[in-house]
Amino acid sequence: MKFVRFMMRNAALLNAPKHIDHYAKFSPSPLSMKQFLDFGSTNACEKTSFSFLRQELPVRLSNSLKEINLLPDRMIMTPSVQLVHSWFVQSLLEILQFQGMSPDDPSVLEEFVEALVTIRNRHNDVVPTMAQGVIEYRDAYGEDHVTSQNIQYFLDRFYMSRISIRMLINQHTLIFDGTTKPGHPSSIGCIDSCCDVTEVIRDAYDCAKMLCEQYYLGSPELELKEINAKNKSQPIQISYVPSHLYHMVFELFKNAMRATVENHETRRTLPSIKVIVALGTEDLSIKISDQGGGVPFRKIDRLFSYMYSTAPRPNLGDHQRTPMAGFGYGLPISRLYARYFQGDLQLYPMEGYGTDAVIQLKALSTDSIEKLPVFNKTALRHYKVNQEADDWCVPSKEPLNLAVYKAAK
Ligand SMILES: Nc1ncnc2c1ncn2[C@@H]1O[C@H](COP(=O)(O)OP(=O)(O)O)[C@@H](O)[C@H]1O
Ligand SMILES: [Mg+2]
Repeated sequence: MKFVRFMMRNAALLNAPKHIDHYAKFSPSPLSMKQFLDFGSTNACEKTSFSFLRQELPVRLSNSLKEINLLPDRMIMTPSVQLVHSWFVQSLLEILQFQGMSPDDPSVLEEFVEALVTIRNRHNDVVPTMAQGVIEYRDAYGEDHVTSQNIQYFLDRFYMSRISIRMLINQHTLIFDGTTKPGHPSSIGCIDSCCDVTEVIRDAYDCAKMLCEQYYLGSPELELKEINAKNKSQPIQISYVPSHLYHMVFELFKNAMRATVENHETRRTLPSIKVIVALGTEDLSIKISDQGGGVPFRKIDRLFSYMYSTAPRPNLGDHQRTPMAGFGYGLPISRLYARYFQGDLQLYPMEGYGTDAVIQLKALSTDSIEKLPVFNKTALRHYKVNQEADDWCVPSKEPLNLAVYKAAK
């Protein structure tokens, strides 16, 4: 029996490239927040969700698998990237097993939920494992501009796709698991249709403050201002995924606190972190301002790089202590969460003074539509184009020798 299962698994693995080619030909179908909410509304249909996911998940997984192949060969060959690749293939094959099954059979639906939970758990460590792959590659072969740019482009798309796949899996498992009851009456899966933005911000601040106190024995205060231009007397509420919002503001608070404390080491009092939340007809904006000394504007792109941090690297295996900083993933991943539903996250530093970090989100659930990468010729070209010459003059590193210039004239 064991042997038969082994042979079947091997046969499935052999067919994997064919399946990947097939599903990668489809573009992912982005869902709007409203569609997510409808999937979970009172007349939610598990069968519809099942039929959608057994097609859509293979499409998203295969698009990602195709793009992994565009990484530099020596990076694909690192044990970490190989491991991540094998997780993706395995999960793809597991979902494909449901292809011929009938949604009318309750046991099929039940097994599907179980399969999704297994897949979610298998992929828990994708981000640190990929990060390890990047480190392995960099340590072995060094860093060059083109490769760094390609890895950055790849990881932004790969992690965005991962956020979306987890979102789909979470929604289905939370809504149709049957055992878990939503914690909040306005929650549908992991979306809160009345997400109290300031409450999430205060929670994230409190948690970052606790960490900051542990590391630095002090922390800046919070000054929060709320402007609801739509309805002045009401708290600011939007349809959003509270855990995504929490992730973003928590990372921004940790950064703002670290900068503030380190920039005021010799002074007795710390300037507070000022937050403004504004809700307009289209946008919800959050500005987090610190007086942590800022950074040179030239370095902004670098701060969003997956390979950059100014903090000492924390120990990867240390699950006991949450590090305050050091992986360099805080900003780039937070920006992906903001962009996932068509928002953005930007930093505006004033070097010598401080930094404003601004999150823009869509206020309307009809505007919040998944932003998904698609594997196509344009993406392919992107990996190649970087090797071409710049179409803007690159200033010489050497100062221009004016004497020689004049003499030549
Ligand atoms: N508010 C800020 N003020 C000054 N520097 C900042 C601020 N936010 C981020 N940075 C710089 O950007 C780097 C990257 O931040 P991040 O992506 O959160 O990674 P990490 O915090 O793990 O280093 C930080 O190491 C820090 O040097
Ligand atoms: Mg950080």
